[in-house]
Amino acid sequence: MAEKLPKIPLHVAFIMDGNGRWARARGLPRLKGHEAGADAVRRVMGYCRDWGIRYLTLYAFSTENWSRPALEVAGLMKLLMVFLRNNERELHEHRVRLRVIGRRADLPAAVVRQITRVEAATAGYDGGTLILALSYSGRSELAQAARRIAEEVAAGTLKPDSISEATVAAHLYAPDIPDPDLIVRTSGEFRLSNFLLWQAAYSELVVTPVLWPDFGADDFRAALEAYAERDRRFGGIGGGDALPEGRNT
Ligand code: IPE
Ligand code: IPE
Ligand code: MG
Repeated sequence: MAEKLPKIPLHVAFIMDGNGRWARARGLPRLKGHEAGADAVRRVMGYCRDWGIRYLTLYAFSTENWSRPALEVAGLMKLLMVFLRNNERELHEHRVRLRVIGRRADLPAAVVRQITRVEAATAGYDGGTLILALSYSGRSELAQAARRIAEEVAAGTLKPDSISEATVAAHLYAPDIPDPDLIVRTSGEFRLSNFLLWQAAYSELVVTPVLWPDFGADDFRAALEAYAERDRRFGGIGGGDALPEGRNT
């Protein structure tokens, strides 16, 4: 099904937006949109397997999303639990590792237990990596990196002079994961909404008007085709990729 493209990203990240508008257009409660969004996540995991994409990051819940009505937040947390329960078998079957980035301590204890358990159970797999951004904020990730670096300086184990880009990168939530090559945002909004601010420095961006629950195989292919046509110059003069896909800092 997946024919050849001249280049395929190593890491694709999605800002999964538009669940609420999808539901509203059907006269349904917002949570129905989130349920349909969870089905889209399942499908997209399959497309990544078909195309041989090794890393998939999904922006599922931002720190700012805590400001939504309590009922919607509770519904999203419940949906997350159901999603993990329904998809754990698939992770094992395809040997996919789960990683979670974000302010874990903000999440309900049951969610933390579940994700910690699935992360541990899949840690040794090599069939790809699914990264869920939960209670995630790029600024908050950078603030916690700064805090941890400051602690090392205060403890005398790190000299301020030796702090480099690599030091900051090493203190992010998932320092071993390569930066996203491609970031796709659905629902037509041209903004990052606090997503992967450090890691997105040289990511290619694709915005599609399609609402997340409607995102399908053809939309995925269109995003990959757009990516394949980009000349990633990384500040150089171009003519082929200056650095291999999955470049990190
Ligand atoms: C994205 O859909 C899902 C989350 C942010 C959790 P939205 O809920 O933001 O949908 P819209 O933007 O209101 O349509
Ligand atoms: C971004 O979507 C966050 C997630 C997809 C989890 P939002 O709907 O929260 O973003 P804004 O409010 O439109 O910027
Ligand atoms: Mg939205």
